[in-house]
Amino acid sequence: MTTRRNFVGTASGAVFAGALASAIGFHPLLAWAGEKSLAIPGKDGMLVRSARFLDLEMPVEYAADWITPTHHFFVRNHMHEPSTLDPAGWKLSISGEVEKPYAISLTELSKLASHSVTNTLECAGNGRGLQNPKVPGVQWGKGAVGTGTFSGPQLRVLLERAGVKSAGKHVMFRGLDQVPGKVPPFIRSIPLEKAMDADTLVATHMNGAVLLKHHGFPARALVPGWIGAASCKWLTEIKVLDKEFEGNFMSPGYRMPNTAAKPGEAVKPENTHPVTALGVKSLITSPADGAALKGRAIAVHGMAWAGEADIARVEVSTDAGTTWKPARLGHDHAKYAWRQWTYAWQPQKPGAYVVLSRATDTQGRVQPDQPVWNPSGYLYNAIDQVKVHVEA
Ligand code: MTE
Repeated sequence: MTTRRNFVGTASGAVFAGALASAIGFHPLLAWAGEKSLAIPGKDGMLVRSARFLDLEMPVEYAADWITPTHHFFVRNHMHEPSTLDPAGWKLSISGEVEKPYAISLTELSKLASHSVTNTLECAGNGRGLQNPKVPGVQWGKGAVGTGTFSGPQLRVLLERAGVKSAGKHVMFRGLDQVPGKVPPFIRSIPLEKAMDADTLVATHMNGAVLLKHHGFPARALVPGWIGAASCKWLTEIKVLDKEFEGNFMSPGYRMPNTAAKPGEAVKPENTHPVTALGVKSLITSPADGAALKGRAIAVHGMAWAGEADIARVEVSTDAGTTWKPARLGHDHAKYAWRQWTYAWQPQKPGAYVVLSRATDTQGRVQPDQPVWNPSGYLYNAIDQVKVHVEA
């Protein structure tokens, strides 16, 4: 049988994929969307969820380390990445409801005190592909998430230098994305309080190196604990506003119904609220779904995170949710970063098993059995599961 996977692997498939990729302006060996690609420089083995605007998902088995290596860090672009970025000519303007608007060069920015934040960045749409019924949008599996150490000046230092007026309530970010046709630009804002938080950054570095273009070179916002969309890449403008920015990516984009919505039901904008901090969630990274396992000592590994809250505990069930046992949390710990966890499983007999993981955070939030269905498929956080077979 010819599947799409082995079709792309054949010579004719590769030529076809190459022609497609050339036509859309990416690397000529780029694989078909949804397939693994070994050919995006610096991003080997990632799942290509969209090729038109590059959206790369990390296969969950890559989440082995507390810090996600940059080459395995997911990429989410709403439009084309900037084709040219001249660091020498780049300026970041700070304006709006401020006493002294100004623009800062990359050289000046790099002279400011650098602050580092280890943050789990997750796309609001991570897990959308698991929603039932289906919702439109990039059909992410479980891997639009990763943890990086981001460094750069605190946003509040830049804002204090401009002097925020009392009218200032929100801080707007604009990136240098290449906007295709009449699509609205990717502009969003965050409340002033979050912008002034000591951990909100204008990051120039990720995991100890200058940001890759995919991740926002030369500078991006880093709004820790919040959905990835808050952390604008390729920053060029910061503007203090007297209210939330009005634009497509604030409304109708990135909003959730105030009360549970039924599939197909229209939700009025006034009955929605913006998506901000991440929910509580865990992920089983090993064994892989569908794995055939040998032996009577099996280590179940995973990650758990909760946005602005801490993880209190992770429990594992190996009997499809009838009983739960505590997992051991890893030592590595930072305010906005995921925790690694492990569970030493000793299956008593061969057979088919459903292994589940469930996280609880310090706010008392527990991962639900079912995701909260919503029309855009945001914040999927149902209890994670893998089905495995323990061999005789
Ligand atoms: N910033 C700009 N300028 N343009 C974008 O499309 N995507 C956002 C955010 N910042 C985006 C952006 C979204 S939806 C996410 S989830 C994160 O970037 C992803 O960051 P990453 O690609 O570095 O992983």
